[in-house]
Amino acid sequence: MKHLLSTEDLSLSDAVRILDTAEEMAAVGEREVKKLPTLRGRTVVNLFFEDSTRTRISFEAAAKRLSADVINFSAKGSSVSKGESLKDTAQTLSAMGADAVVIRHWASGAPHRLAATDWIDAAVINAGDGTHEHPTQALLDAFTMRRHWSKLAGTPSAGAALTGMRVAIAGDVLHSRVARSNVWLLRTLGAEVTLVAPPTLLPIGVEKWPCSVSYDLDETLARGVDAMMMLRVQGERMNASFFPTTREYSRRWGFDDNRLRALDTLGFKDTIIMHPGPMNRGLEISSAAADSPRSTVLAQVRNGVSIRMAALYLLLSGDTREPAGRPNTTTSASAETTSAHAPKESH
Ligand code: NCD
Repeated sequence: MKHLLSTEDLSLSDAVRILDTAEEMAAVGEREVKKLPTLRGRTVVNLFFEDSTRTRISFEAAAKRLSADVINFSAKGSSVSKGESLKDTAQTLSAMGADAVVIRHWASGAPHRLAATDWIDAAVINAGDGTHEHPTQALLDAFTMRRHWSKLAGTPSAGAALTGMRVAIAGDVLHSRVARSNVWLLRTLGAEVTLVAPPTLLPIGVEKWPCSVSYDLDETLARGVDAMMMLRVQGERMNASFFPTTREYSRRWGFDDNRLRALDTLGFKDTIIMHPGPMNRGLEISSAAADSPRSTVLAQVRNGVSIRMAALYLLLSGDTREPAGRPNTTTSASAETTSAHAPKESH
């Protein structure tokens, strides 16, 4: 794997390999010294053309835990606001010796463009492109679901897929790169996905996606789901009115207090509630739901660092310009001084 651009083309073995590597990285995160020497001397550039809080910080934390040098570049306050093109920006970063570029862009396809050209010879990671894909978000979601699913089954997460898990994804599917990336990845991992949205917030051609579609959130919940993922209403991407009022939206499509209670009444004690953040509390999710014991919102953020460490590790340590260290999950305080080992065998 040279780049991580989408989940649509991710094979089952690559997906499981990333999830398994993230488990090892999570174990590093639980140690007192949360750092590995693996990417010492390597440069990771966070290239953000669109606002972001958790994704950018998460990539930064991940790169730093692997001892890489991190350069944060946001379009605001840079020459991009003076009209510099993606090509010129990429060539500048290349001249600075970037080994990996983590790119978030408002234009769908921008990361693919960067990876396909010879503007820069670096691993490209898509951190969200327009309404297209957000692969590391889907991977961290799958990681969170896999831990939950394995715990219920009483089996280890490592090596596991999500066979038979029922996942509902509800809300603004039309504008959501998170929904797209999740549908592809969850299909590959063997989960059954249902999208729930008003017809106005479903993309054209959704009937060809490998999932079912419902317009009724209550009916979907009554049938039983193991994970309920709520999507943010993406007001900044809406150029028209897609639903009558916010009150009507939250009544029909929001995960409100009534629906939270319904999970108990229906006897679904193990259903988790997910949200990629940032949340519109009171719109697509109520505060009671977001803060309930069923909510995995903060676990998703935590798991995001492990997934991004795994992605950076797998993309950069395969590159033999300099040997990379194997994630060492057994020793503790010696992590900083651990010498470089050969890259780990894939699972
Ligand atoms: C998502 C994104 O930016 O696509 N957020 C994230 O990465 N945590 C979802 C969203 O903005 O609603």
